Amino acid sequence: MTSTGDDRPGTRISQAVDILQRGGLVALPTETVYGLGADARSSAAVGRIFIAKGRPATNPLIVHVHDTAAARRWARNWPDAAGKLADRFWPGPLTLVLPKNREIVDGATAGLDSVGLRVPNHPLALELLRCFDGPIAAPSANRSNCISPTTASHVRDELGDKVDLILDGGACTVGIESTVLDLAHGAPRILRPGQISAWQIEQVIGPLASDQPVQSGELRESNESHRQLAPGQLPVHYAPQTLTLRFTPDQYGQLKLDEQTGVIVLEAEPFGSSCARIVTLPRDPAAYAQQLYAALRDLDNRHLHRIYIQTPPDEASWAAVRDRIFRASRPC
Ligand code: TXA
Ligand code: MG
Repeated sequence: MTSTGDDRPGTRISQAVDILQRGGLVALPTETVYGLGADARSSAAVGRIFIAKGRPATNPLIVHVHDTAAARRWARNWPDAAGKLADRFWPGPLTLVLPKNREIVDGATAGLDSVGLRVPNHPLALELLRCFDGPIAAPSANRSNCISPTTASHVRDELGDKVDLILDGGACTVGIESTVLDLAHGAPRILRPGQISAWQIEQVIGPLASDQPVQSGELRESNESHRQLAPGQLPVHYAPQTLTLRFTPDQYGQLKLDEQTGVIVLEAEPFGSSCARIVTLPRDPAAYAQQLYAALRDLDNRHLHRIYIQTPPDEASWAAVRDRIFRASRPC
C-alpha cells in the first residue's frame, strides 16, 4: 500500500488518480459501503479487483461516475426513466442497470451487455471521480461473500495488502449497499433492495415489474429468470464466518445462550442474558442499517460459537435490512 506521510486530502486524491491511471486499485469511501475501485475501461485493472476479492468472474461490478452526464456517456441508451431517477436520487444509493457502452470492458460486467451505473453521495468519492475523469468499477471492498466494509479500517483489516491506496472518508452513513434497479430488460425491476425503496422509485417512474424478487425482505431465489437477471445475488451472501442464526421474539426460549454467544437485538427489546455480548441496534431502519455491518463484523472477530440476530418486522421500511439479514443468517 502507498504511504507518503503526506495525508492532505488533495495529495491523497492525486495519488489515487495516479494509481488508477496506472491500472492499480484504490479503496474509496461511498455513502453505502467502501468500494474497491479500478478503471472500468481497463481489463487488466478490473481483473485485479476479481483477484483481490476472490470474486467469481460471473458477478458484475458497479461502475461509479461523478454526474449524470458521465453516466450517459457509458450507457448505450438513456431511457426517460433513467433521467428522472438520476434527477431525483443522484448522487445517492441507487444503481441503474442500462445497456452498456463498448468502452466499459466486458470483465467489469461479467460479460453482460448491461452495466450498473451509480453516482455515489460522498465528497471524497466525487472528488476522486471528478479528478480521474473516468468510470471507476468498484464492488464492495471485502473478500467475496464476506461482510461489506463501512470504515477504512475494515478495508485495511481485510484487504490491506491487496490494495494500492485506501482513501479514508470516515464511517459510511447509509451502511448497506445501493438499491440496484434494472432498466435494461423490459419493465423496471429491483434486483437488490436498498435504502431507496420500491415505493420511492414508483413515485418517480410509476409501477415496477409486478414479480419483484424481494418482497418485504423475503427472498424468492428459486425464480430462475431472476437469477439470470441478477447475477451475483446469491441467497447466502454478506455473511460472517461465525454461524449466524436469525430469530423472532417468540423464539427467545429456544436460544442457546452462553459465553460463546453474541446476540443482536432491536432497541427496547426485553432481552436479559449472561451471554458474551448483546448488541442493541436502533428501531429506526436507516439508523439500524448504518450500524449493522460493523456490529456483525465486531461479533465475528470475537470467534464465538454462534451469533443470533433478531429479525426486524416484516414491513416495507425494513425490506433492505431484512434482505441483508436473510443473506447473512439461517433460521434458528
Ligand atoms: O452500494 C453499492 O452498490 C456498493 C458501493 C461500493 O457502490 N457496491 C456494491 O458492489 O455493493 P457489489 O459488487 O458488492 O455488488 C454489485 C451487485 C452485483 O452483485 C450484481 O448483483 C449487481 O450489483 N449488478 C451490477 N451490475 C449488474 C448488471 N449489469 N446486471 C445485473 N446486476 C448487476
Ligand atoms: Mg459486495
